[in-house]
Amino acid sequence: LPVVVLISGGGSNLQALIDGQARGELPISIVAVISNRPSAGGLERARRHGIATAVLDHRDYAERADYDAALTGLIADYDPGLVVLAGFMRILTPAFVAAHRGRLLNIHPSLLPKYRGLHTHQRALDAGDREHGASVHFVTAELDGGPVVLQARVAVEADDDAERLAARVLTQEHIIYPTVVRWFAQGRLRLDDQDQARLDDVP
Ligand code: GRF
Repeated sequence: LPVVVLISGGGSNLQALIDGQARGELPISIVAVISNRPSAGGLERARRHGIATAVLDHRDYAERADYDAALTGLIADYDPGLVVLAGFMRILTPAFVAAHRGRLLNIHPSLLPKYRGLHTHQRALDAGDREHGASVHFVTAELDGGPVVLQARVAVEADDDAERLAARVLTQEHIIYPTVVRWFAQGRLRLDDQDQARLDDVP
């Protein structure tokens, strides 16, 4: 399955997918990594593995709709069967989401529906939550609102700060994201007409 990965930062989730592919655990081919930030560390990870990279800098676009249209066109050049958002820190327009409906996954560092948006780790700490985590979900028009496919739970420890908690959550992200991508690549996972995630049993 040809996959395009969108990043903005360090790309550790991208790395988990690259590693899974290299180990033969994922029936995917990462055909391109696209970043909205020229300095994203994940671009170097991609280059190191011989994966095509592209930068589409959001600062070159005054309007979000124009950026997303350009991004849609750039993605289409690679003709992917799946687009993976891996720390892509942009709010997407409904037109972008519609253009990739059912083929767009995101990972969010919270136990959705809790803590959509930013600063999820600090918000979980401030609320006194004993449990935190990450969610992989299909992207629909609502920000961080699409149907959850898989979550990982992490116990909050008494001496946690946001950084420590985030690090433990990230370790779990590197497990659940490749798992969901594998399900999708195996044809077992889809978004149905009611915007529900459907996972078939292993045949
Ligand atoms: C992850 O915590 C992801 O959930 C969030 O941004 C972070 C990206 O990390 N949306 P990385 O770039 O994959 O290392």
